[in-house]
Amino acid sequence: MTIAVVGTGIAGLACANRLQQLGKPVKLFDKARGPGGRMTSKRSAEGYLDLGAQYFTARHPAFMAQVQQWQQQGVVAPWLAAMSQFVAGKLLPSPDAQLRFVGVPAMHSPLRQLAQGLDIHYQCQLQRIWQQDHYWWLQDTTGQDYGPFSQVVLTVPPQQAAALLPAEFSTLLPQQILTPCWAVDLQLTRPSGSNVGGIFVKDPQLPLSWLCRQNSKPGRAGPEHWLLHFTAAFSQQHLEQPASFWQELAAELLARVVAQPVEVAAAICHRWRFAQIAEVAQPVPPVSLAAGLWLAGDWLRGGRVENAWLSGTEVAEQIQND
Ligand code: FAD
Ligand code: NAI
Repeated sequence: MTIAVVGTGIAGLACANRLQQLGKPVKLFDKARGPGGRMTSKRSAEGYLDLGAQYFTARHPAFMAQVQQWQQQGVVAPWLAAMSQFVAGKLLPSPDAQLRFVGVPAMHSPLRQLAQGLDIHYQCQLQRIWQQDHYWWLQDTTGQDYGPFSQVVLTVPPQQAAALLPAEFSTLLPQQILTPCWAVDLQLTRPSGSNVGGIFVKDPQLPLSWLCRQNSKPGRAGPEHWLLHFTAAFSQQHLEQPASFWQELAAELLARVVAQPVEVAAAICHRWRFAQIAEVAQPVPPVSLAAGLWLAGDWLRGGRVENAWLSGTEVAEQIQND
C-alpha cells in the first residue's frame, strides 16, 4: 500500500526517492508550487536568487556520494569563492579548506532532480492527519481527503507538524523549535568591485549572521545582488516589521560591511518563520510517533541541508527494515 510523504524539501524528497528505489509506492504532498522548501530560490529576470539555504557541505559518505551524482548530472557545483568574516567592525579575509556546494542554476536544482518521476501533489496544504482502522488519512485545507496510506512520513518543521496531528501524537513531538530568519536580497545599481563571496558575521554589534554576493556563485550572472540574513534573535524581535524596514536596514548594513556607499535598484525581503535550529547535541534516530507515523527533517539532526537529506533517507531505510 502507498506511503504518504508530507513535504517536498530535501528531507521529504530524499525519503521518497529512497522508498521508490526500494520498490515502495509513494505519494508526496506540499503546500508550495514546487519542490525546495527552505532550499527554494526566487526566480528573477536575470536568474535565480537564493533566499534560504546558501550552500551546503558534505561530510557523511552517503551524502557525499549523492552530491557527486548531482555534480555528474550538472545540478550541483562547487562554490569556490573567497570567504570572509566581519569581526570587531572590520571585514577580514577568512580562508578555509572547507568544500562548499551550491545548486545550479538555483539551490533547488538538485531537488528538482530528486522530484523527477515522483507522484507529487503541489499546492496541497494539509490541515489534518488521522488514523482509522490501522490506516492513515490526510485532509487538505479545502476538505479533500487522501488515503488510505500504510505509513505517513511528516517532514514539516515541528511547529507545523503539531498543528496537523491529533493531540495524543502532537504532545509526543520532540521539543526542537525552529527560530525565524529575515532574508533580504539587494540588487545594486552598479557593481561594487568587491570580490568577496560569503561573509560570516561574528560581530555582536550587527544584527546579521551572513552576507553573500550572489554573483560569486556558479551560474548566477547579471547585475550585482547581495543577500543578507538577519540573526534569529533580531528576526524574532522584529518579526512583524514591513519589508521597507528590512530593505532600509539591509542597505545601511551592507554599506557598513563593504565600507562603501550602496545604491539599491531593487530588493526582495522574505521572512522564514521556521528557519533555523540550534546544533543538536545528538542526532535523533528515525522517530515513529505511532505505528506507521514517522518524523523526518533537519530539525532532528541539526539545521543543515546534509542533515535533512540524511534524516529522510534514514526513515526510508527504517521503513524498509521494519
Ligand atoms: P523544509 O525544507 O522546510 O521542507 C518542509 C516542506 O514541508 C516545505 O516544502 C513546506 O512547504 C512543506 N509543508 C509545511 N507545512 C505543510 C503542510 N501543512 N502541508 C503541506 N506541506 C507543508 N542549510 C545549510 O546546509 N547551509 C546553509 O547555508 C543554510 N542556510 C539557511 C538559511 C536560511 C534562511 C534557512 C531558512 C535555512 C538554511 N539552511 C541551510 C537550512 C536548510 O535549508 C534546511 O536544513 C533544509 O532545507 C531543511 O529541509 P527539510 O526538508 O527538513 O525541511
Ligand atoms: P560551514 O562549515 O561553512 O559553517 C559552519 C559555521 O562555521 C558557520 O556558521 C561559521 O560560523 C563557521 N565558519 C565556517 N567557515 C568559516 C570561515 N571561513 N570564517 C569564519 N567562520 C566560518 O557549513 P555547515 O557546517 O554546512 O553549516 C551550514 C551553514 O548554514 C551555517 O553557516 C549555518 O549558520 C547556516 N544556516 C543558516 C540558517 C539561517 O536561518 N540563517 C539556518 C540553518 C543553517
